[in-house]
Amino acid sequence: MDRILIRGGRPLSGAIAIGGAKNAALPLMAAGLLTEERLTLENVPRLEDIRTMASLLAQHGIAVEWGPEKKTLGLGGRITSTEAPYDIVRKMRASVLVLGPLLARCGEARVSLPGGCAIGTRPVDLHLKGLEQMGAVIRIEGGYIVASVAGRLRGAEIVLPFPSVGATENLLMAASLAEGQTIIANAAREPEIGDLAECLAAMGARVSGIGGDRLVIEGATKLHGACHAIIPDRIETGTYLCAAAIAGGEIDLRGARLGDVAALARALDDAGVEISETATGILARRRNGLAGVDVMTEPYPGFPTDMQAQFMALMSVAEGAAMITETIFENRFMHVPELNRMGARVNVHGASAIVRGVPHLSGAPVMATDLRASVSLVLAGLAARGETVVSRVYHLDRGYEAVEAKLAACGADIERIAEDR
Ligand code: UD1
Repeated sequence: MDRILIRGGRPLSGAIAIGGAKNAALPLMAAGLLTEERLTLENVPRLEDIRTMASLLAQHGIAVEWGPEKKTLGLGGRITSTEAPYDIVRKMRASVLVLGPLLARCGEARVSLPGGCAIGTRPVDLHLKGLEQMGAVIRIEGGYIVASVAGRLRGAEIVLPFPSVGATENLLMAASLAEGQTIIANAAREPEIGDLAECLAAMGARVSGIGGDRLVIEGATKLHGACHAIIPDRIETGTYLCAAAIAGGEIDLRGARLGDVAALARALDDAGVEISETATGILARRRNGLAGVDVMTEPYPGFPTDMQAQFMALMSVAEGAAMITETIFENRFMHVPELNRMGARVNVHGASAIVRGVPHLSGAPVMATDLRASVSLVLAGLAARGETVVSRVYHLDRGYEAVEAKLAACGADIERIAEDR
């Protein structure tokens, strides 16, 4: 398995192009199941998770083709199977996003239950309850969600007890082909949901309340093809903002949207990082030391859980203490022991971590169990004295395109060591 080697201590300077949002691309690809016509997605990142979703769609009978520049994906074809097998779903939880579209389009679906993952149990009960309210009959059999509906799904008023991103997306897609009106109250408001709703609207669905916590969808009998450009990745953006902050120097993030990372930008500003909007994206600059800042993860527009590990790496070298509270996932501090091996002083108490800043970290061999934890170790490596080797890089490849090339182009001393070396 590849590893990433970082020799820390170099400030960054240069520009990084932000790719399309992985977490927008995955539901948008699932939306390809809602029409027999062609759906073209532009600005698709080339990531392992995208390839996993492509193989799942292929298993359903959908042809997935990259355009000549490898940034566009064309989806189309007849659905030949409504089963999402365990072998694919266990690799990527977002596979469960095919459930709503398959059920709405074909009246049946058999989707493996995703099970637990490194960051928590992550059930899908809200997805299933919402679909049942729309008339689906669902049972769990042999580890699979077996869902069917007589005729079409019916519009319903669904109040989510928690604004789950995945449940909002699954229900939004199902509602776009349901009979009558669906209301999703306490819907998640993440920008990726707005992006999905815009694409569904381009496919002929009538969705109002986009960007808010109450989505109203008038179902259509049929959706048509469309061409949709995916929004820039706010988590990739946030990660490189933290890279500039931890390494020092200045990075220009091309194509990034400040509005999508407002909560993080506020925290970085409090920590002493200069963040400004430019004509082409966001400029991040750190000249002086960092100050400790408390943050708590929350649903959007709050501080994103997907930025918690990276922000912790940053706080580990800030002056003073920072309290980082995780409210979205119950087990998302797997990076703490690894950061501590690099000399960080982090103590976890329940859902909170107290980070006492140290003057410098020291390089070490480390590994991580999930995507954002892995990249937090890369960030820590940029600031550490000596060499850091991050193993289990396949986690990184799930969500970051060419992370080492992008950082190296800004002056970081970082390289990928291929498995056989
Ligand atoms: C999505 C993102 C993920 C991000 C998360 C929160 C994608 C592909 N993934 O994940 O990167 O960290 O949003 O911003 O977009 N829950 C339930 N029952 C459900 C659904 C969720 O209890 O039916 C719980 C989960 O266990 C978790 C919390 O709600 O504790 C948040 O989950 P959710 O918002 O659904 O996140 P995902 O869609 O899985």
